[in-house]
Amino acid sequence: MNIQTSAPAKIILVGEHAVVYGKPAIAVPVSSLRAYAEVEPSSGGLQIASADLDEMVPVDISAATIDNALALTARLVLQKLAASPPEVTIRLHSDIPIASGLGSGAAVSTALARALCAALNAALPEAELNALIYEVEKVYHGTPSGIDNTVIVYEHPVYFVRQQPIQTVVIGGDFMLVIADTGRSASTRSAVDGVRALYDSRHEQVQALLDDIGELVAQARGCIERGQAQALGDLMNRNHALLQQLTVSSPELDRLVKAALDAGAFGAKLSGGGRGGNMIALVAPDSEGKVTDALTRAGAARVFTTILGRRARC
Ligand code: MEV
Repeated sequence: MNIQTSAPAKIILVGEHAVVYGKPAIAVPVSSLRAYAEVEPSSGGLQIASADLDEMVPVDISAATIDNALALTARLVLQKLAASPPEVTIRLHSDIPIASGLGSGAAVSTALARALCAALNAALPEAELNALIYEVEKVYHGTPSGIDNTVIVYEHPVYFVRQQPIQTVVIGGDFMLVIADTGRSASTRSAVDGVRALYDSRHEQVQALLDDIGELVAQARGCIERGQAQALGDLMNRNHALLQQLTVSSPELDRLVKAALDAGAFGAKLSGGGRGGNMIALVAPDSEGKVTDALTRAGAARVFTTILGRRARC
């Protein structure tokens, strides 16, 4: 048995948080950064070993409740396939930083679910796998929109509106993105809960911010399809300002955004849940080095570049 499966990280180009309230958002996979699962035969029932979390999770599908995302993923797969746990250990490893807005949880669950299917010699259609990973996201992230699991399972740029059929985005040019980590982990759940509290207490004001985000996402789709980087950058800047008003930025994120813009980026914004985690900057190829240096000098814990393009995948 020599099975390895994987799933990518993701970034949200525009529209996070507003997407929870039915507005569109655009997300793209980052195929160079992945979570992996490897299957090994074992004699101790189904076990999941997580190298990064330094834990070994035995999967007891008869337990009434499951308080571990990995065990829940395995249980849902077994239920879906009406299968008994195979005698294997599934070893997980992820290059995606945890709690940083890059979809680490959904990617690890997706890689695990694929490995378990493969160990059982079974396959789940992507739509069913996507629905299953969404169930795991719901248990661990409160009220997720479903965008993270969707872009990760399908590994394709998506224009996502909650509870609507998935729309793919046509990429009309090459867009170079520099991704920088504040080094501060942040819970998406608490950021989403924070926006909910604001929405409940200042409904009209927050609704107006969400409406503005929805409009700029629709415009951003046009820019992506026409290959207009400068115009997309302007929309990213507007999106960041609106996210600041939704209270999900942080001093570290704002510092990195400013550093990228000062160094010549077309646009920059936080990406994902915010309050820490990663930001993204859209750059021209000839300013990539300058922006990367500026982000490093401004305190980024890790900086890397990816290209969203007509041919290359992120
Ligand atoms: C997290 O990657 C994106 C949020 O909009 C939450 C969600 O859509 O579930 C903040």
